[in-house]
Amino acid sequence: MNFGEYLTTHPNISQSILRDIKWFGCELLNCSLFNLNNQQLSAMQIKKLNSTVKKLKKDVPLAYITKSAYFYNQKFFVNKNVLIPRMETEQLLEVIINENKDKKDLKILDMCTGSGCIAITLKNNLNCVVTAVDYSTSALKVAKKNAKLLNAQINFVHSNMFDKLDTKYDIIVSNPPYIKTDTIKTLGNNVKDYEPKQALDGGQDGLDFYKIIATTAPQYLKENGVLYLEIGHDQGTTVPKLLKTNFKDIIVKKDYDNQSRIVKCIRR
Ligand SMILES: C[S@@+](CC[C@H](N)C(=O)[O-])C[C@H]1O[C@@H](n2cnc3c(N)ncnc32)[C@H](O)[C@@H]1O
Repeated sequence: MNFGEYLTTHPNISQSILRDIKWFGCELLNCSLFNLNNQQLSAMQIKKLNSTVKKLKKDVPLAYITKSAYFYNQKFFVNKNVLIPRMETEQLLEVIINENKDKKDLKILDMCTGSGCIAITLKNNLNCVVTAVDYSTSALKVAKKNAKLLNAQINFVHSNMFDKLDTKYDIIVSNPPYIKTDTIKTLGNNVKDYEPKQALDGGQDGLDFYKIIATTAPQYLKENGVLYLEIGHDQGTTVPKLLKTNFKDIIVKKDYDNQSRIVKCIRR
């Protein structure tokens, strides 16, 4: 049986499962989408495809099935202990890299590192020393594995936010948990049933971590140090309000979907 014939044995799968299983097929058979349907399948490959369709039907995210996710053109290892890196976060990286590409010896802190996607991408694209923090030991394990896989030397710190830090940085970047606790149950099954709560839950108003960052980050930033944050699409007013006491030149940038997504500001 070839891949095209295999698909006809699953006539009722949704468009999103169809897209995922084709993507999975390309990885499994090491071919392009263009050649996929003609590829002959071994019994073992059919077994793997069947088990993947079964998991996709239970809303398991494809990234957790393949244990991988692409971020900024690099392949990251992911498992259920880390948030799957998002496209919106790539835009945050684009902004930071563009604005800092000519600088040298930057000291950067990635607060709430998860898979390490931000820390590692910055290390591999800027002239910098990077420290990355997470409170989840299992997330840190994943981040360390990624740093090794992607050849990035990062200083990893297990810490509840800034608790274990004692130095100042030129740049602090963070994509903290920012979903309101009550909103989590309304998210898609693929997110609420599989991604780590600790990576999503921003407290009752979704702002718990931004409040800590707004009051504590200034002590860890050099004079004129820059803070870059990813925010939820509905936090473009509330987060800047929290920041204005300790930060100046606050800018909110939109993502490709025209949603508020990135905040940049300078320590006062
Ligand atoms: C939204 S995820 C971001 C992961 C990654 N930076 C990204 O952009 O894909 C937030 C991360 O914050 C971590 N976290 C939650 N509470 C924390 C705390 N008190 N201190 C440090 N990190 C924390 C979670 O473990 C999770 O890895």
